[in-house]
Amino acid sequence: MKRLLAIAFALACSAAAGAGPGKHAVAAAHPLATRAGLEVLAAGGNAFDAAVAVSAALAVVEPYSSGIGGGGFWLLHRVADGTTIMLDGREKAPLAAHADLYLDASGNVVPRLSIDGPLAAGIPGAPAALAHLARHYGRLTLERSLAPAIRLAREGFEVDEKYRRLAGWRLPVLRASAAAAEIFLLNGEVPPAGYVLRQSDLARTLESMASSGAAGFYRGPVAARLISGTRAAGGIFSREDFEQYRVVERSPVRFVYRDMQVTSVPPPSSGGIALATMMHILEGFDLPAAVGVDRKHLIVEAMRRAYRDRAQYLGDSDFHPVPRELLLSRAYAAGLRAGIRLDRVTPSASLPGAAPVEGADNTTHFSIIDAEGNRVAATLSINYPFGSGFVPPGTGVLLNDEMDDFSAKPGVPNAYGLVGAAANAIAPGKRMLSSMSPAFLETPSRLAIVGTPGGSRIITMVLLAALAFQEGGSAGQMVALPRYHHQFLPDRVQFEPGAINPGERSILENRGHVLEARERPYGNMHVVVWDYRDNSVQAASDPRGTGMASVASP
Ligand code: GLY
Repeated sequence: MKRLLAIAFALACSAAAGAGPGKHAVAAAHPLATRAGLEVLAAGGNAFDAAVAVSAALAVVEPYSSGIGGGGFWLLHRVADGTTIMLDGREKAPLAAHADLYLDASGNVVPRLSIDGPLAAGIPGAPAALAHLARHYGRLTLERSLAPAIRLAREGFEVDEKYRRLAGWRLPVLRASAAAAEIFLLNGEVPPAGYVLRQSDLARTLESMASSGAAGFYRGPVAARLISGTRAAGGIFSREDFEQYRVVERSPVRFVYRDMQVTSVPPPSSGGIALATMMHILEGFDLPAAVGVDRKHLIVEAMRRAYRDRAQYLGDSDFHPVPRELLLSRAYAAGLRAGIRLDRVTPSASLPGAAPVEGADNTTHFSIIDAEGNRVAATLSINYPFGSGFVPPGTGVLLNDEMDDFSAKPGVPNAYGLVGAAANAIAPGKRMLSSMSPAFLETPSRLAIVGTPGGSRIITMVLLAALAFQEGGSAGQMVALPRYHHQFLPDRVQFEPGAINPGERSILENRGHVLEARERPYGNMHVVVWDYRDNSVQAASDPRGTGMASVASP
């Protein structure tokens, strides 16, 4: 009853703020992408047009994170009719893919085959998603919303230190693809900071989309080059793959934690369900009152259990039954909670087995609200930095290596002696499981639009930010929070510098936790918060990154 009243209150508050915040806000991982969104909003576009502009601009200026050779999830809320959906533009396995694609004749995984080069790529979903957004949600033409990205591709952008670090890390794969080396390197080396990187083939491909919509990518000369270029280098793309690719509008995962309604993404992402499991478990503890080490212990134990289920049960629900209702039920979470002790860790080995979670560290996120209150939380990826490193000649399209998000070897014991999950086995036309977790958080007084890149750590970063928001944290506090993470296997708590102090560390170790201090911080969160009480809007970009958050008047 209390919970129903809280939701009714929340809805009443948001209805009271029904006129919208009267301001636009964009927070994204690169200033040029944020500016692209603001440009389109200033031209009369809504949040969905801005989402097209920001997605496409990020594809140009953050080629290591996302792109039209990749995919993503766009969580949308449209004020006019109250529609809230997840636009699923996740890549799909090519039709010629099969469960043993990355195994040798002896059934062993061939190292790097699902990471480097054209065989690692799924059929891109981002172009179809952008065309769908413009056609069904935007106010402007696709051509108008793609204009900033086309300009950036033609005129170029300045290479920065982040680009240099990630290009250096992927140097061998970029060198292995002549077209990728031509675009992203300078005489086979990482270009210096300040070098203006122009992408004329990508500009032409974006122009083809601007004039012909999704068909400008999935049919005609662009598709022909994508297919012939990959096949010539050992890939398996076919015309049917491109003709059959469709985005899907899916019902989001929705649940309530204390007085906060959480809306996030369903399979093929694991994000929404894992967030629900963790928060349903944690709701049974007085978390706001639990301070320091006890709070961290409880959160880690919730993470451990949700990630076990992720590995066991989650995959593309169009192909494999996902027990969504069970996993989202409070009764199920109560059962998981019953096994948690405050004085001792629950070793992962004592829980029923499942495969370890895989996940690369790149990807990108942006959050947008427009003056009317339309909103977008979008997390986009090409998986590893610079994806597969492969560009089909003449396209400018850097292909993803999202196929690595499948379990390459389900049903066969992994390095830990545990059995992998069939739910995320490779199958033709199937979408690979993701951790991307764009989310809307709504309390009686405030709304947050949130998300981050970070591979398998995405979900726990969003969890920590959501808990902080529910307890009153600002956008700036959410993005700056020190982070810690547990993913069932390996059985250890990873933490950023400063997230767990030496005193807490020794108490956690006494309770049986294994801790791993990470040398570098992780994640790149972007948050927009609308406070209904004074109709103010805040936007914040992660201090760990080089993004830009901006609030503007229409
Ligand atoms: N490729 C990262 C993810 O989808 O989780």
